[in-house]
Amino acid sequence: MKITTSYFKKAKEKGEKITMLTAYDYTTASLVDAAGIESILVGDSLGMTMLGYDSTLPVTMEDMIHHTKCVSRGAKNALVIADMPFMSYHISIEDSCINAGRLIKEGGAAAVKLEGGEEFAETIRAIVRCQIPVCGHIGLTPQSINAFGGFKVQGKTAEAARGLIKSAKTLEDAGVFAIVVEGVPAEIGGLISKSVSVPVIGIGAGKDCDGQVLVVQDMLGTFPGHKPKFVKQFASVGEVMTNAFKAYSDEVKNGSFPADEHTYKINDEEIKKLY
Ligand code: KIV
Repeated sequence: MKITTSYFKKAKEKGEKITMLTAYDYTTASLVDAAGIESILVGDSLGMTMLGYDSTLPVTMEDMIHHTKCVSRGAKNALVIADMPFMSYHISIEDSCINAGRLIKEGGAAAVKLEGGEEFAETIRAIVRCQIPVCGHIGLTPQSINAFGGFKVQGKTAEAARGLIKSAKTLEDAGVFAIVVEGVPAEIGGLISKSVSVPVIGIGAGKDCDGQVLVVQDMLGTFPGHKPKFVKQFASVGEVMTNAFKAYSDEVKNGSFPADEHTYKINDEEIKKLY
């Protein structure tokens, strides 16, 4: 069944948790989709996990479109949401609509996500008017690391938490179909989820959100970089990969790979003609 944004709304109404994982390539998207994960986020975290930058800030529209295309081809059922990269929705509303449209038309995404609160309400309204579903993203928004002074848990004072709840309500009013809430105390994740009728998808926001999202490399243990406290590693795929690479190297060096079963044949008559 193809998952749509109305599925998200119904899931929240029924109290069913929503699953989301990131993916940035066809193979991973196909596997995530086959596992029945309801939504795939082509996150701008690809700046770190795929491109090796130390933040999401250098990611371009062209990067996002390229990876979104790959994921869209692999996602048969999951709702594909593409991140709007830093500075693709900050300059003008016209620019923002054009860039959101490119992620849908060229990338094949079904929705876009952008970071920020009240300051982007008008932008969100305009994108939604273009019939493009928008997912909000508040809390620890990685595109704001320079403004935050680093990756810092948000909403830790009553005043800051009230601000996040207000932002969530403003985003709902602007027409988002869901909101990602990142890096806030669990109680605040729960309070935000209760404050709005659209689903809140948490990452480092506790168990009382309406759904959860993780970066696929983090949950598989394939990313060598920093592992935040909220990450649960569900498998040690990185270790499995490294062991496979070592085994391959050993077999190539000692000549046991390729073996007979990996080798094409030519009949002896034809070979004789060569000598
Ligand atoms: O870019 C990303 O992967 C994200 C998730 C961390 C929510 O925005």
